[in-house]
Amino acid sequence: MNHEFLSRREFLHTVGHGATAISLTAFLNACLPVQNTQNLQASSAPDLEFRIRSIPDQANILDGPATQVWRYAGEVIKGNAENLQPIQGSYLGPILRARKGQQVRVHYENQIPQESIIHWHGMHVPESADGHPRLAIGEGESYQYDFTVMDRAGLYWFHPHPHGNTGEQVIRGLAGLFIVNDDEEEALGLPSGELDIPLVIQDRYFGKNNEIKYYKKDVAAFGFLGDRYLVNGQTDFFLPVAARPYRLRLLNGSNARMYALRLSDGRPLNVIATDGGLLTKPVTRDFITLSTAERREIWIDFSEYSVGDEVQLVDFDPTEPDNQQKVVPAATFSIDREDPSNLTLPVQLASLDLHDEAQAVNRENPRVFELSMGMGMQWLINNKTFEMMEVDKNEEIRLGDLEIWEFINSAHMSAMQHPMHIHGLQFQVSGRESAPAFRSENEAIHAGSVDEGWHDTVQVLPGERVRLLMKFEDFEGLYMYHCHILEHEDMGMMRNYRVSA
Ligand code: C2O
Ligand code: CU
Ligand code: CU
Repeated sequence: MNHEFLSRREFLHTVGHGATAISLTAFLNACLPVQNTQNLQASSAPDLEFRIRSIPDQANILDGPATQVWRYAGEVIKGNAENLQPIQGSYLGPILRARKGQQVRVHYENQIPQESIIHWHGMHVPESADGHPRLAIGEGESYQYDFTVMDRAGLYWFHPHPHGNTGEQVIRGLAGLFIVNDDEEEALGLPSGELDIPLVIQDRYFGKNNEIKYYKKDVAAFGFLGDRYLVNGQTDFFLPVAARPYRLRLLNGSNARMYALRLSDGRPLNVIATDGGLLTKPVTRDFITLSTAERREIWIDFSEYSVGDEVQLVDFDPTEPDNQQKVVPAATFSIDREDPSNLTLPVQLASLDLHDEAQAVNRENPRVFELSMGMGMQWLINNKTFEMMEVDKNEEIRLGDLEIWEFINSAHMSAMQHPMHIHGLQFQVSGRESAPAFRSENEAIHAGSVDEGWHDTVQVLPGERVRLLMKFEDFEGLYMYHCHILEHEDMGMMRNYRVSA
């Protein structure tokens, strides 16, 4: 489907509703192919240039017949081999790597029989590169992204963002990683190369012929859960490792499943980074909660084990009493060789330029977003569902402002957590409060939360009110915020916000 048609359709749709809150000029601006009008960065030569296609393919995931998947196939046009790597043995990926400050161009070509568009999750990019669903392109069409990497070193990722089909496209295999490095991180000498391992954890449900099953209807209210765990697209993920420190980069790439991950031998985990990169200093947790789209990076020293040992990363339910706990293994590490190393976990990791809540323009009167379920089992934000071009008064932001946002999960109809995600920036989690009825369960889950550092997605538990601090810098335009349970997002638990000077 081409843009003109999309624009016209959306135009009629929007005008047809009459009561929407945007002006005609703003609407027309938003409908222009923004990469031509807004992104001046595009005029100079990029440092890195990639071609990425979304394609139908097949993968050997289970014994027996191959599984039909959709995946991203990438190639480097400008750059070297390190800038684009596969995730070892996986149809997921690829991993794009860039340094902070580099200018990146991506030619995206959609070759799946559905509209799609790539969103760079967690990255601070111009509107034209954010992958808003109004920019979705049809099969055979292409879209060019130009942006400068302004983000801190860390693990970001990319995935489809068409309206209504994100859940299906991700579950079929469309998800890749974007790893940023910078001088500050490099100076730490963290484990790198083959000691730096991305682990994309997902769940899937396979049919009799090994096909990926997906139902949107009926499960939409809760989100789609698979019955098998996969890491990097593989079931029973098994990794031989040396007895030395590693850096594990965890991404929850599932549609709806939340994890609470711990080591099978109960050893605590050292968390060194969150969604938006390194923490000030490592924090230790007995387990880590990981809601959809969140990232946590772990420093793990396998020299604490002996050659021949195995240790697993297992998922469990922290709200269940200890003696009733079922664990599901997600990944197995097998210590199979010595490899003496004198790397030690740094005491200080990075200096964070954190915001000061007292400077927020709305400190007296934070923006509030209430999460609730409406008629017809539909999740809403402030009683609204997604409309492609709609921006409410409460969603107009002034460029440069530091703001407090509060998500309230009132949970009177249905007690369910929502991982809330905001495009285009990283925020701080500055407070949480639970209604008394939910307090003890929520505390059990938050024993594994890492609210320190920078985030783009935050778990909002039932009965909880979560306070965030964020600054809208550099880019004007239409961005989004939504629940990252993809079935909730697809059914409209998503809204636009607009930044204007
Ligand atoms: Cu990772 Cu709008 O999403
Ligand atoms: Cu995002
Ligand atoms: Cu949700």
